[in-house]
Amino acid sequence: MKVTVIGSGYVGLVTGVCLSDIGHEVKIFDINQHKIKMLESGQVPFYEPGLEKILKRNVKKNNLFFTSQERFAFADTDIVFIAVGTPPGLDGEADLTYVFRAVQNASSYMKENSIIIVKSTVPAGTTEKLNSLCKKLVPNKNLTVASNPEFLREGSAVKDFYKPDRIVIGANNDVIHEKIKSLYALIETEYCLTTPESAEMIKYASNALLAVKISFINEVALLCEEVGADVEEVALGVGKDKRIGSSFLRAGIGYGGSCFPKDTEALIYLASQYNKEMKIVQAAKEVNDRQINWMLDHINQSATQIEHAKIAVLGLAFKPETDDIRESPALRVIDYLLQRKAEVQVFDPKAMPNTKNQYGTTLSYHETVEAAVENTDIVLVLTEWEVIIKHLPAAINSMISKPVIIDGRNCLERIKLNSDIRLVQVGKASEETEFANVEYSINTVSVAKKNIS
Ligand code: UDX
Repeated sequence: MKVTVIGSGYVGLVTGVCLSDIGHEVKIFDINQHKIKMLESGQVPFYEPGLEKILKRNVKKNNLFFTSQERFAFADTDIVFIAVGTPPGLDGEADLTYVFRAVQNASSYMKENSIIIVKSTVPAGTTEKLNSLCKKLVPNKNLTVASNPEFLREGSAVKDFYKPDRIVIGANNDVIHEKIKSLYALIETEYCLTTPESAEMIKYASNALLAVKISFINEVALLCEEVGADVEEVALGVGKDKRIGSSFLRAGIGYGGSCFPKDTEALIYLASQYNKEMKIVQAAKEVNDRQINWMLDHINQSATQIEHAKIAVLGLAFKPETDDIRESPALRVIDYLLQRKAEVQVFDPKAMPNTKNQYGTTLSYHETVEAAVENTDIVLVLTEWEVIIKHLPAAINSMISKPVIIDGRNCLERIKLNSDIRLVQVGKASEETEFANVEYSINTVSVAKKNIS
């Protein structure tokens, strides 16, 4: 099929590139000409394992194109995917300006009977509003707008494309369901064929429930510390119950990224529009906002004074295998440390360029774990990158004056560290610790957000 994807951000690029790889002729459209030039030369503007190789392969095969030309993008295509951003407004409402603009634009060029598929995460009811918009703008073209939400995870997006748990298609008739299904004919998975409203809700409910699971285990973790239990063992035992499942029960310093914080807020806002409350999701959000205090408490407990203390921050990305720092818990920790005038030495294998754009010379950047921890009083592990797990124990064991390690991701093994090293982990009883129940106020460094959706 001939497919056009609007938006060369995270979702659009992964979807477009992978669709070309399973045999479709794909054009990726973006108004940002600089990005289009980069992509044409085979460069991916963010780090995602495996993506660049597939992109280059399909550009070479002549079935993947990048363009800013509207006519070329939309006039001769069967399906247009909308994969533009839906950023949150101040009250959490998803801003749909880009989605509506994209549909308005594309529909004026598209041929009769073609399909627009919304991949962007949008509140229930949006697809139907877009259907009405098309009927109004181009009444004789018989365009259909359908929903096909995206469940890709950053860092494993390519793998997730080829092996999804399910593909959700929301449309108002079976012909459209089948047509969209045939796009993915080479992918073996289960299909949820449903209405646009249910498809839109599946996306929000999935992300919200995953966020709830994380906040739940994080609350359990704090109680584990009090009662002398180990949250990892608790999560293991709980997760063996098939009704619960073991995934998303890793306690830590809270979830970040471009989806969970934004989508939970948007769901809470959507409910409020119908005079409903998402109490559990609201609580998950509050627990997540507070979870960083665990880290700040331990930093305060470990440092005699934070001013001029040398502190290593290992891991800046919101999770491993990405260079994305949006809503990363690491940034809140860094903001707090800078506010308290600590000297911050950072390391991340992929996310340092993005961090540099935001923090400039207020941090000192190091190319290796060993260099970042040198002469530090405290070492914070904020992202569970393999390279950190592998190199940190030996680096610390060999130091003469040993820093305290605060592992906010529970990724280090106690056994690999010399016995005189103090290791603090989430949800694991360490020595008696009294906290002053402080509410932290963190001044956020103004964020030049990366333009990827
Ligand atoms: C998420 C959804 O998983 C994906 O389906 C959707 O399309 C987009 O949002 P992503 O944000 O890329 O994907 O990452 P994910 O792996 O879900 O992790 C999100 C955050 O939760 C990260 O900060 C991660 O560190 C944290 N997390 C995850 C935990 O703290 N504990 C866990 O057990 C799992």
